[in-house]
Amino acid sequence: MKVTVVGAGAVGASCAEYIAIKDFASEVVLLDIKEGYAEGKAMDLMQTASLNGFDTKITGVTNDYSKTAGSNICVITSGIPRKPGMTREELIGINAGIVKTVSSNLIAYSPDTIIIVVSNPMDTMTYLVHQSTDLPKNKIIGMGGALDSARFKYRLAEALGAPISDVDGMVIGGHSDTGMVPLTSHATRNSVKVSEFLSTERLEQVAADTKVGGATLTKLLGTSAWYAPGAAVSALVQAIACDQKKIFPCSTLLEGEYGLNDICIGVPVVLGKDGIEKIVDIPLSDAEKAHMQSSAEGVRKTNGLLNVEA
Ligand code: 2OP
Repeated sequence: MKVTVVGAGAVGASCAEYIAIKDFASEVVLLDIKEGYAEGKAMDLMQTASLNGFDTKITGVTNDYSKTAGSNICVITSGIPRKPGMTREELIGINAGIVKTVSSNLIAYSPDTIIIVVSNPMDTMTYLVHQSTDLPKNKIIGMGGALDSARFKYRLAEALGAPISDVDGMVIGGHSDTGMVPLTSHATRNSVKVSEFLSTERLEQVAADTKVGGATLTKLLGTSAWYAPGAAVSALVQAIACDQKKIFPCSTLLEGEYGLNDICIGVPVVLGKDGIEKIVDIPLSDAEKAHMQSSAEGVRKTNGLLNVEA
């Protein structure tokens, strides 16, 4: 199993590290345009192999896509991260051109690859990969909901005073500060609805904190987060590489599902060896349906900038 990660910045390097530590891939190629940067990160990570007990081979390359040839899965993290006060959507001007070029270069050497898009604004970047490549829709996956759901579970466990291992919850919709849809009506604490433990007001606060989870960290860190984004995308890679048939909320092209067409937005999907193997239709409350529709309007507005920017 060969995985390429484009972008050796904090998110890409964290993703490569988590993939290596899980030891399910034979090789991870880490690629960056900055001379020597990916090589340095890869060498540093390989020097943890004896300590962290993995045999995965991490190789760093500077902008040489021939070394990515034959990749089963390619992760695109390249582009600029947001700064405090910025929205993810403000990154489109620079990141659209980068994502378009990177996806084209990857497919030239790995025509059968599955692409996972992390670069922001992620839902629109995922849509751009559909627009600019011939990959089938099951092989183009946007990572946002897995990260947002991890933040949702963190906030739920905090509010419940419960271990995160007892908490389950999912966030669908756009990966944006205003467009996320935390499914509070579905969230559980060891199969018991969380609404049995938390008031409506407290659940609304959990949802609100979840939506700005990324912005909260960007304010604290001065740049976008990387540990949880890297871990989230490594979980998607593992589900595909190991054919796990796990359900994750991922950004995928909808063609009528959830009443939406011609848009990439976060919905529950089954991930396996063929990438997105099934879009899972789950019952939504009227409020959740309304949130999903308004979230889609926000994503479409950002998509509308593509014709200008890309
Ligand atoms: C985040 O929410 C980078 O969009 C990513 O942290």
